[in-house]
Amino acid sequence: MLLLFTERMSETPVAMLRQYLQQQVALGEQRALLRPTAKTALVRLSKGGGVSRAESPLRSAPCPVAKETRPETKEPGTLDVAGSSKAERLANLARMAGEASGPRALGSLRTTLVFATGNSDAKIMFIGEAPGAEEEKQKEPFVGPSGQLLTKIITAMGLQRSDVYISNICKFRPAMPDQGTGNRQPTAEEMKSCLPFIHTEIDVVSPSVIIALGATACAGLGIEGPVGKNRGRVHQVRGVPVVVTYHPSYLLRQEQEGRGLEAKRQSWEDVLLAMATAQLPINEKQRNYFKPRL
Ligand code: URA
Repeated sequence: MLLLFTERMSETPVAMLRQYLQQQVALGEQRALLRPTAKTALVRLSKGGGVSRAESPLRSAPCPVAKETRPETKEPGTLDVAGSSKAERLANLARMAGEASGPRALGSLRTTLVFATGNSDAKIMFIGEAPGAEEEKQKEPFVGPSGQLLTKIITAMGLQRSDVYISNICKFRPAMPDQGTGNRQPTAEEMKSCLPFIHTEIDVVSPSVIIALGATACAGLGIEGPVGKNRGRVHQVRGVPVVVTYHPSYLLRQEQEGRGLEAKRQSWEDVLLAMATAQLPINEKQRNYFKPRL
Protein backbone atom coordinates (compact mmCIF):
# COMPACT_ATOMS: atom_id res chain seq x y z
CA MET A 1 0.00 0.00 0.00
CA LEU A 2 1.53 3.30 -1.06
CA LEU A 3 0.68 6.60 0.52
CA LEU A 4 1.96 9.93 -0.73
CA PHE A 5 1.82 13.17 1.19
CA THR A 6 2.29 16.40 -0.67
CA GLU A 7 2.33 18.49 2.49
CA ARG A 8 4.50 18.09 5.56
CA MET A 9 2.58 16.52 8.39
CA SER A 10 3.63 16.47 12.01
CA GLU A 11 5.15 13.25 13.35
CA THR A 12 2.28 12.01 15.51
CA PRO A 13 -0.49 12.06 12.93
CA VAL A 14 1.81 10.30 10.49
CA ALA A 15 2.57 7.64 13.11
CA MET A 16 -1.13 7.19 13.80
CA LEU A 17 -1.91 6.90 10.14
CA ARG A 18 0.96 4.47 9.59
CA GLN A 19 -0.29 2.28 12.42
CA TYR A 20 -3.78 2.30 10.95
CA LEU A 21 -2.53 1.43 7.48
CA GLN A 22 -0.35 -1.40 8.79
CA GLN A 23 -3.40 -2.75 10.54
CA GLN A 24 -5.38 -2.59 7.30
CA VAL A 25 -2.57 -4.37 5.42
CA ALA A 26 -2.54 -7.07 8.10
CA LEU A 27 -6.25 -7.49 7.50
CA GLY A 28 -5.62 -7.95 3.78
CA GLU A 29 -6.85 -4.51 2.63
CA GLN A 30 -5.27 -3.24 -0.58
CA ARG A 31 -6.51 0.36 -0.58
CA ALA A 32 -7.40 3.07 1.89
CA LEU A 33 -8.83 6.35 0.65
CA LEU A 34 -8.11 9.62 2.44
CA ARG A 35 -10.68 12.35 2.75
CA PRO A 36 -9.52 15.80 1.65
CA THR A 37 -9.87 16.92 5.30
CA ALA A 38 -7.56 14.13 6.51
CA LYS A 39 -4.71 16.34 7.66
CA THR A 40 -6.90 18.58 9.82
CA ALA A 41 -8.64 15.60 11.38
CA LEU A 42 -5.36 13.78 12.10
CA VAL A 43 -3.84 16.84 13.73
CA ARG A 44 -6.93 17.15 15.92
CA LEU A 45 -6.73 13.47 16.87
CA SER A 46 -3.05 13.81 17.74
CA LYS A 47 -3.90 16.60 20.16
CA GLY A 48 -6.30 14.33 21.97
CA GLY A 49 -9.38 15.81 20.31
CA GLY A 50 -12.14 13.67 18.86
CA VAL A 51 -13.52 13.58 15.38
CA SER A 52 -16.93 12.46 14.30
CA ARG A 53 -17.31 9.52 11.98
CA ALA A 54 -18.16 11.94 9.18
CA GLU A 55 -14.87 13.79 9.79
CA SER A 56 -12.80 10.60 9.97
CA PRO A 57 -9.64 10.97 7.84
CA LEU A 58 -10.33 7.66 6.14
CA ARG A 59 -13.26 7.21 3.82
CA SER A 60 -13.90 3.56 4.22
CA ALA A 61 -13.07 2.79 7.81
CA PRO A 62 -13.31 4.04 11.37
CA CYS A 63 -10.95 6.79 12.46
CA PRO A 64 -7.44 5.61 13.39
CA VAL A 65 -7.62 5.73 17.15
CA ALA A 66 -6.31 2.27 17.99
CA LYS A 67 -8.64 0.12 19.99
CA GLU A 68 -7.76 -0.46 23.60
CA THR A 69 -7.24 -4.18 23.09
CA ARG A 70 -7.54 -6.63 20.29
CA PRO A 71 -6.72 -10.04 21.67
CA GLU A 72 -5.31 -11.76 18.63
CA THR A 73 -4.72 -11.36 14.94
CA LYS A 74 -3.63 -13.71 12.15
CA GLU A 75 -0.38 -15.23 13.24
CA PRO A 76 2.46 -14.73 12.54
CA GLY A 77 1.51 -11.06 12.14
CA THR A 78 1.59 -8.40 14.74
CA LEU A 79 -1.07 -7.03 17.01
CA ASP A 80 -2.76 -3.69 16.92
CA VAL A 81 -1.62 -2.06 20.14
CA ALA A 82 -2.52 1.39 21.36
CA GLY A 83 -0.25 3.86 23.13
CA SER A 84 1.55 7.12 22.56
CA SER A 85 5.00 5.85 23.60
CA LYS A 86 6.86 2.58 23.22
CA ALA A 87 6.55 1.92 26.95
CA GLU A 88 2.80 2.48 26.86
CA ARG A 89 2.36 0.25 23.84
CA LEU A 90 4.40 -2.51 25.50
CA ALA A 91 2.37 -2.19 28.69
CA ASN A 92 -0.82 -2.56 26.65
CA LEU A 93 0.69 -5.50 24.79
CA ALA A 94 1.56 -7.19 28.08
CA ARG A 95 -2.03 -6.74 29.20
CA MET A 96 -3.24 -8.30 25.96
CA ALA A 97 -0.85 -11.24 26.46
CA GLY A 98 -2.22 -11.78 29.95
CA GLU A 99 -5.76 -11.94 28.56
CA ALA A 100 -5.00 -13.90 25.39
CA SER A 101 -6.97 -17.09 24.91
CA GLY A 102 -4.53 -18.83 22.51
CA PRO A 103 -1.80 -19.87 24.96
CA ARG A 104 -4.37 -20.80 27.60
CA ALA A 105 -6.36 -22.93 25.16
CA LEU A 106 -3.39 -25.26 24.71
CA GLY A 107 -3.66 -26.36 28.33
CA SER A 108 0.07 -27.07 28.48
CA LEU A 109 1.28 -23.69 29.69
CA ARG A 110 0.95 -22.28 33.16
CA THR A 111 -1.05 -19.10 33.53
CA THR A 112 1.28 -16.57 35.18
CA LEU A 113 2.38 -14.05 32.59
CA VAL A 114 6.10 -13.35 32.40
CA PHE A 115 6.27 -10.72 29.70
CA ALA A 116 9.55 -8.82 29.41
CA THR A 117 11.82 -6.44 31.24
CA GLY A 118 14.14 -3.57 30.46
CA ASN A 119 14.27 -0.54 28.28
CA SER A 120 11.63 -0.05 25.62
CA ASP A 121 14.11 2.14 23.70
CA ALA A 122 16.94 -0.39 23.90
CA LYS A 123 19.38 -0.90 21.07
CA ILE A 124 19.90 -4.51 22.19
CA MET A 125 17.04 -6.97 22.62
CA PHE A 126 17.67 -10.43 24.08
CA ILE A 127 15.17 -13.16 23.27
CA GLY A 128 15.08 -16.43 25.19
CA GLU A 129 12.67 -19.32 25.06
CA ALA A 130 10.33 -19.38 28.08
CA PRO A 131 10.30 -18.50 31.77
CA GLY A 132 11.30 -21.04 34.38
CA ALA A 133 10.35 -21.40 38.04
CA GLU A 134 12.25 -18.38 39.32
CA GLU A 135 11.07 -16.19 36.46
CA GLU A 136 7.49 -17.21 37.15
CA LYS A 137 7.91 -16.39 40.85
CA GLN A 138 9.36 -12.94 40.14
CA LYS A 139 7.31 -12.36 36.94
CA GLU A 140 10.48 -11.26 35.21
CA PRO A 141 12.48 -13.04 32.47
CA PHE A 142 15.98 -14.29 33.13
CA VAL A 143 16.27 -13.90 36.88
CA GLY A 144 17.16 -17.54 37.72
CA PRO A 145 20.63 -19.11 37.31
CA SER A 146 20.79 -18.55 33.53
CA GLY A 147 19.52 -15.02 34.06
CA GLN A 148 22.34 -14.32 36.47
CA LEU A 149 24.82 -15.38 33.80
CA LEU A 150 23.00 -13.20 31.26
CA THR A 151 23.31 -10.25 33.65
CA LYS A 152 27.09 -10.88 33.83
CA ILE A 153 27.26 -10.87 30.03
CA ILE A 154 25.31 -7.59 29.90
CA THR A 155 27.67 -6.07 32.49
CA ALA A 156 30.68 -7.21 30.45
CA MET A 157 29.14 -5.37 27.51
CA GLY A 158 29.38 -2.20 29.60
CA LEU A 159 25.61 -2.11 30.05
CA GLN A 160 23.03 -2.76 32.73
CA ARG A 161 19.86 -4.82 32.54
CA SER A 162 17.92 -1.56 32.46
CA ASP A 163 19.75 -0.56 29.25
CA VAL A 164 18.61 -3.59 27.26
CA TYR A 165 15.26 -5.23 26.56
CA ILE A 166 14.92 -8.85 27.70
CA SER A 167 12.09 -11.06 26.53
CA ASN A 168 11.06 -14.61 25.73
CA ILE A 169 9.25 -16.15 22.78
CA CYS A 170 6.88 -17.97 25.12
CA LYS A 171 5.27 -15.78 27.76
CA PHE A 172 4.21 -18.53 30.17
CA ARG A 173 6.16 -21.25 31.94
CA PRO A 174 5.67 -24.61 30.24
CA ALA A 175 3.77 -26.95 32.55
CA MET A 176 5.03 -30.37 33.64
CA PRO A 177 3.54 -33.18 35.69
CA ASP A 178 4.73 -32.87 39.31
CA GLN A 179 6.09 -29.48 38.33
CA GLY A 180 7.92 -28.39 41.47
CA THR A 181 10.84 -26.29 40.29
CA GLY A 182 11.20 -28.31 37.09
CA ASN A 183 11.41 -26.47 33.80
CA ARG A 184 11.17 -27.57 30.21
CA GLN A 185 11.62 -26.03 26.80
CA PRO A 186 8.46 -24.75 25.12
CA THR A 187 7.11 -26.77 22.21
CA ALA A 188 6.79 -25.29 18.73
CA GLU A 189 3.04 -25.05 19.29
CA GLU A 190 3.47 -23.22 22.60
CA MET A 191 5.85 -20.73 21.03
CA LYS A 192 3.52 -20.28 18.08
CA SER A 193 0.67 -19.34 20.41
CA CYS A 194 2.79 -16.43 21.72
CA LEU A 195 4.40 -15.43 18.43
CA PRO A 196 2.21 -12.37 17.77
CA PHE A 197 3.43 -10.90 21.06
CA ILE A 198 7.14 -11.25 20.42
CA HIS A 199 6.68 -10.09 16.82
CA THR A 200 4.86 -6.99 18.04
CA GLU A 201 7.51 -6.38 20.70
CA ILE A 202 10.19 -6.49 18.01
CA ASP A 203 8.25 -3.97 15.94
CA VAL A 204 7.59 -1.67 18.90
CA VAL A 205 11.07 -1.75 20.47
CA SER A 206 12.71 -1.74 17.05
CA PRO A 207 16.16 -2.53 18.46
CA SER A 208 19.38 -2.16 16.50
CA VAL A 209 20.06 -5.85 17.05
CA ILE A 210 18.41 -8.92 18.57
CA ILE A 211 20.52 -11.50 20.36
CA ALA A 212 18.66 -14.81 20.06
CA LEU A 213 19.55 -17.14 22.93
CA GLY A 214 19.66 -20.81 21.99
CA ALA A 215 18.28 -22.99 19.23
CA THR A 216 14.74 -23.10 20.63
CA ALA A 217 14.37 -19.31 20.65
CA CYS A 218 15.91 -19.23 17.18
CA ALA A 219 13.42 -21.79 15.87
CA GLY A 220 10.62 -19.69 17.35
CA LEU A 221 11.94 -16.73 15.37
CA GLY A 222 12.14 -18.83 12.21
CA ILE A 223 15.91 -19.46 12.29
CA GLU A 224 16.09 -23.24 12.11
CA GLY A 225 19.06 -25.40 12.99
CA PRO A 226 21.67 -25.70 15.70
CA VAL A 227 23.32 -22.64 17.19
CA GLY A 228 26.70 -23.84 15.90
CA LYS A 229 25.42 -23.53 12.35
CA ASN A 230 23.70 -20.18 12.77
CA ARG A 231 26.13 -18.23 14.94
CA GLY A 232 28.83 -16.01 13.45
CA ARG A 233 26.62 -14.20 10.94
CA VAL A 234 23.80 -11.72 11.01
CA HIS A 235 20.27 -12.95 10.26
CA GLN A 236 17.20 -10.79 9.76
CA VAL A 237 13.86 -11.11 11.53
CA ARG A 238 11.15 -8.55 10.82
CA GLY A 239 13.80 -6.29 9.31
CA VAL A 240 15.94 -6.35 12.46
CA PRO A 241 19.48 -7.84 12.47
CA VAL A 242 19.67 -10.98 14.62
CA VAL A 243 22.81 -12.53 16.10
CA VAL A 244 22.47 -16.10 17.31
CA THR A 245 24.31 -17.36 20.36
CA TYR A 246 24.20 -20.11 22.97
CA HIS A 247 21.55 -20.02 25.68
CA PRO A 248 23.12 -19.13 29.06
CA SER A 249 21.84 -22.42 30.51
CA TYR A 250 23.89 -24.26 27.84
CA LEU A 251 26.95 -22.25 28.91
CA LEU A 252 26.31 -23.27 32.53
CA ARG A 253 26.00 -26.93 31.54
CA GLN A 254 29.19 -26.75 29.52
CA GLU A 255 30.95 -25.23 32.51
CA GLN A 256 29.82 -28.11 34.71
CA GLU A 257 31.23 -30.52 32.15
CA GLY A 258 34.58 -28.71 32.01
CA ARG A 259 34.00 -27.27 28.52
CA GLY A 260 32.86 -23.86 29.70
CA LEU A 261 35.73 -21.76 28.43
CA GLU A 262 35.39 -22.54 24.72
CA ALA A 263 31.60 -22.10 24.80
CA LYS A 264 31.96 -18.78 26.64
CA ARG A 265 34.61 -17.62 24.19
CA GLN A 266 32.30 -18.34 21.26
CA SER A 267 29.40 -16.70 23.01
CA TRP A 268 31.49 -13.59 23.67
CA GLU A 269 32.44 -13.46 19.96
CA ASP A 270 28.71 -13.43 19.21
CA VAL A 271 28.15 -10.64 21.71
CA LEU A 272 30.92 -8.58 20.09
CA LEU A 273 29.31 -9.16 16.69
CA ALA A 274 26.00 -7.94 18.12
CA MET A 275 27.66 -4.88 19.68
CA ALA A 276 29.36 -4.05 16.39
CA THR A 277 26.05 -4.50 14.56
CA ALA A 278 24.39 -2.07 16.98
CA GLN A 279 27.36 0.29 16.59
CA LEU A 280 28.06 0.19 20.32
CA PRO A 281 31.60 1.12 21.37
CA ILE A 282 33.91 -1.85 22.00
CA ASN A 283 37.02 -1.18 24.07
CA GLU A 284 40.32 -3.06 23.98
CA LYS A 285 39.56 -4.98 27.15
CA GLN A 286 36.27 -6.20 25.72
CA ARG A 287 37.87 -7.08 22.40
CA ASN A 288 40.56 -9.12 24.12
CA TYR A 289 38.59 -10.87 26.89
CA PHE A 290 39.26 -14.31 25.53
CA LYS A 291 42.49 -13.65 23.66
CA PRO A 292 45.49 -15.48 25.19
CA ARG A 293 47.94 -13.10 26.88
CA LEU A 294 51.46 -13.21 25.45
N1 URA B 1 15.42 -19.34 30.07
C1 URA B 1 14.78 -18.58 29.14
O1 URA B 1 14.85 -18.86 27.97
N2 URA B 1 14.09 -17.54 29.55
C2 URA B 1 14.03 -17.18 30.83
O2 URA B 1 13.37 -16.18 31.12
C3 URA B 1 14.70 -17.96 31.76
C4 URA B 1 15.38 -19.02 31.37
